Amino acid sequence: MKKIGIFFGSTTGTTQAIAHRLAKLLGVADSDVYDVSTVAPSVFDGYDVLVLGSSTWGSGDLQEDWYDFVDGAGAIDLHGKTIAIFGCGDETMSDTFCSAVGKLYEKFRPTGAEMIGAFDADGYTFDNSGAFIDGAYVGLMLDEVNHPELTDLRLRKWASGIVSQIGA
Ligand SMILES: Cc1cc2nc3c(=O)[nH]c(=O)nc-3n(C[C@H](O)[C@H](O)[C@H](O)COP(=O)(O)O)c2cc1C
Repeated sequence: MKKIGIFFGSTTGTTQAIAHRLAKLLGVADSDVYDVSTVAPSVFDGYDVLVLGSSTWGSGDLQEDWYDFVDGAGAIDLHGKTIAIFGCGDETMSDTFCSAVGKLYEKFRPTGAEMIGAFDADGYTFDNSGAFIDGAYVGLMLDEVNHPELTDLRLRKWASGIVSQIGA
């Protein structure tokens, strides 16, 4: 059985709450859900599947707690691990919608980890997003500001895709 850890950066608590909702859907214990501001990247060692979540700030930037964590993660060998990424944003910031997800994707793709969790962008309204690569989102995008009513379905759809991709 693959061990899943969920890692989030969250400024006002939105991505944190989503991380715990995802944990329930994926059968992950709350003790395997981590705020990246409180742990070092070596915690990745205990997991086969790393689910990473960031909100987007500034103009398409990562949530601030991710920067130090990502720097440290560069020194870790992630071959053999699987990564899936989710994010919270605001569609009215239409040129950088959930771009932090794309930033995490670009940071972790060169590590040798298998990247999974692409998501269909149909049903979203945006002009540009750093997370929209080769015709699809590279992870799950959520807009709790304008469309919280869509979150439950999106979470369920993405979580079941993750479960089938990792063969859990
Ligand atoms: C100053 C500011 C800048 C933001 N910039 C973006 C952005 O570029 N793209 C986006 O999708 N959302 C942006 N957002 C929206 C946040 O990502 C969104 O509110 C998110 O749910 C916050 O999650 P958190 O509480 O987990 O940090 C911004 C919000 C604020 C207040």
